[in-house]
Amino acid sequence: MSSELKFRLPTIRPYFSRLRDHWSWNTRSVIQPGTALRRRVSGKVVMLTGASSGIGEGVAEKLAEAGATVLLVARNRDKLNVIAERIQASGGKAGVYPADLTNLEECDRICEQAQQDHGRVDILINNAGRSIRRSIKFTYDRFHDYERTLQLNYLASIRMAMNLLPGMEARNEGHIINVSTVGVQANPARFSAYLGSKWALEGWTWVAANEFAHTGVRFSSLNYPLVRTPMIAPTKIYQYMPVMSPETAVKWMLDVIVTQNKRKLGVFGKGALAMYYLLPKTSESIVNVSYQSIYEEPPENYVSSKARAGKAANGPEGKNQERA
Ligand SMILES: NC(=O)c1ccc[n+]([C@@H]2O[C@H](COP(=O)([O-])OP(=O)(O)OC[C@H]3O[C@@H](n4cnc5c(N)ncnc54)[C@H](OP(=O)(O)O)[C@@H]3O)[C@@H](O)[C@H]2O)c1
Repeated sequence: MSSELKFRLPTIRPYFSRLRDHWSWNTRSVIQPGTALRRRVSGKVVMLTGASSGIGEGVAEKLAEAGATVLLVARNRDKLNVIAERIQASGGKAGVYPADLTNLEECDRICEQAQQDHGRVDILINNAGRSIRRSIKFTYDRFHDYERTLQLNYLASIRMAMNLLPGMEARNEGHIINVSTVGVQANPARFSAYLGSKWALEGWTWVAANEFAHTGVRFSSLNYPLVRTPMIAPTKIYQYMPVMSPETAVKWMLDVIVTQNKRKLGVFGKGALAMYYLLPKTSESIVNVSYQSIYEEPPENYVSSKARAGKAANGPEGKNQERA
């Protein structure tokens, strides 16, 4: 590789059309959101992961209603078939692409198949996700928590993008939406594995947005608060908390598709971000108080730190103890 520094003349003109588009689509999204959505997606091919449940299921139906061809991705083929049949019965277009996205070759396979079947993918929505709620101290022997979340939330999303971005770049048109969480702003306790993977996903999103800013390819991130979907059902305390409805979550997604804004963040997220930068220790104390106040059942085979320290002091076979 040559170490010589070479310069190119940057193209500036696209920034102006991008600015004009930004304001015109944001205005349309407020004045006539339904019409704007139709204009944005009618005749477009949208690949939507996590389409069998929760937010994804709702988004699939609305996009098909607005005239998009929706390619439904998730592991559960039967659920996808039911959703596709429902869409087709009401005159919409949908295709079913079952895959376990944690297998990256499956990501390649469905992207290749989709492009063969439909010629292109205009919009990729990386919505499939996995959350794990567990304290770091209970994760010492569960490294796979980090691997599982990264594999689906980060690596699979990037792999999908790597497959579909070249086509978007060649056509100078496309939109990749990565679904994240307000946890990235609020850093709640017990979500180190989940949030690490979503931070990684957002990091990639912002770099991609910067690199493609002079082209017609756009990148967005949605920072959802808690949404009442099967994802949060196992956590009892969420049953008593005010959370976003799936209908509102779907509206957020449709809004991002119309506006192509870089980030969708609610009031809570903005407040958490302000606290994080303006009062870092106070925000840490608030999160920590809530962390300490709620009891968490240790996982099976949990070894306490005291027991670990004792074991370390006594050596692997308790030799030090014998000597003593
Ligand atoms: N619900 C919330 O409170 C909340 C808050 C912030 C952000 N989010 C984010 O919103 C997105 C959607 O979540 P949701 O609440 O709608 O969750 P959900 O109802 O649990 O849906 C998750 C979807 O991901 C699919 N999926 C899971 N593992 C997969 C795999 N290995 N391969 C392919 N598909 C897989 C599931 O389908 P199969 O099981 O059929 O594969 C399902 O369609 C996620 O990225 C989540 O992190 C949710």
